Amino acid sequence: MLEMRLARIPAAFVCTALLARAACAAEARTVPFGKLPDGTAIEAVELSNAHGVRVRVLTLGATIQSLVMPDRDGRPGDIVLGYATAPEYLAGTQYFGATVGRYANRIAGARFTLDGRTYVLAANEHGNQLHGGPRGFNKVVWRLGAVQSGPTAAAVLSHVSPDGDQGYPGTLRVSARFSLDEHELRVEYRAQTDKPTVVNITNHSYFNLATESGGSILDARLTIHASRYMPIDAGLIPTGELRAVAGTAFDFRNPTPIGLHIRDGRDEQIVLAHGYDHNFVLDSASGTLRPIARLEDPRSGRVLDLLATAPGLQFYSGNFLDGSVVGKSGHTYRQSDGVCLEPQVFPNSPNEPRFPSARLDPGGEYRNIIAYRLSTEGR
Ligand code: GLA
Repeated sequence: MLEMRLARIPAAFVCTALLARAACAAEARTVPFGKLPDGTAIEAVELSNAHGVRVRVLTLGATIQSLVMPDRDGRPGDIVLGYATAPEYLAGTQYFGATVGRYANRIAGARFTLDGRTYVLAANEHGNQLHGGPRGFNKVVWRLGAVQSGPTAAAVLSHVSPDGDQGYPGTLRVSARFSLDEHELRVEYRAQTDKPTVVNITNHSYFNLATESGGSILDARLTIHASRYMPIDAGLIPTGELRAVAGTAFDFRNPTPIGLHIRDGRDEQIVLAHGYDHNFVLDSASGTLRPIARLEDPRSGRVLDLLATAPGLQFYSGNFLDGSVVGKSGHTYRQSDGVCLEPQVFPNSPNEPRFPSARLDPGGEYRNIIAYRLSTEGR
């Protein structure tokens, strides 16, 4: 039937349509990415589209190792910080590009109570648990499944976190689907459990739209669609207060240079976190994919529009980068050389009944969908 229909359409039009379709096609390919010290082979899947966007995802930690996009003059640049080799990711402590979980961000005291039972987690930061513990999702080798090319290129990585892993109840089956079409890079985290548990998985890419060796991101303009944020204590754990951003250094409701207030010593939250390292309470309802933030680089013209389904967004201004880490292109990374925008449920939710629940029950499905729309703006 399609042939009959095509036969009646002038050949030139069909050819144009097919060429247009080919031009919209996105490619996926799998390449080796070295080995871990114990000899485990690491693979990378590369997704690329016809607009010069190319992402490389590692089976180690389901990690975004590079994300290349053009600037306003068409020059390609890698806009995420990271390492050149798998062993560096395994040994690293910055979570560059990593899929973090079971519970991204912090759980106070490395413990929580669920249905009357207290679970003690593996602590890895001042008695708290950060990013799922010392052997969180960023440190395991995920299984690479289906890889596809076409109008949308995609790859699915999966991991089974056994009952009791890092202290969490239930066997958790997790998938991370990375897809690229002509408009966006999308990451879809899904999980199922066989026992009641808590889940909060996100991606921990550090963005620098002036490229990963571009230096400070303090001139980049950030917009976050949030009227409230969550102050933290000295351990970077939210106090439970939801504070209005209006009139504070945390007001990013309009495009604002990240560095405009980052040195405001009168703001105790800026001082406590050594910059920004806070969860923002997004204004729009969670559950559907909606715009939540925007990052713009005036120098390159690159723009990243962030959409997500999660209720919160952790904004971290790379405060722990101290020049001791050598990145993939041989440059050291210093404070504020990258910005993390991590869509997630609120930090420490299992211990905060007032926060949206992070509970997952058997038969349910955890979902966190994140979309990065990459574009450029003229001068
Ligand atoms: C998250 C935390 C930060 C820091 C980074 C990893 O963004 O909020 O405090 O721990 O992870 O370095």
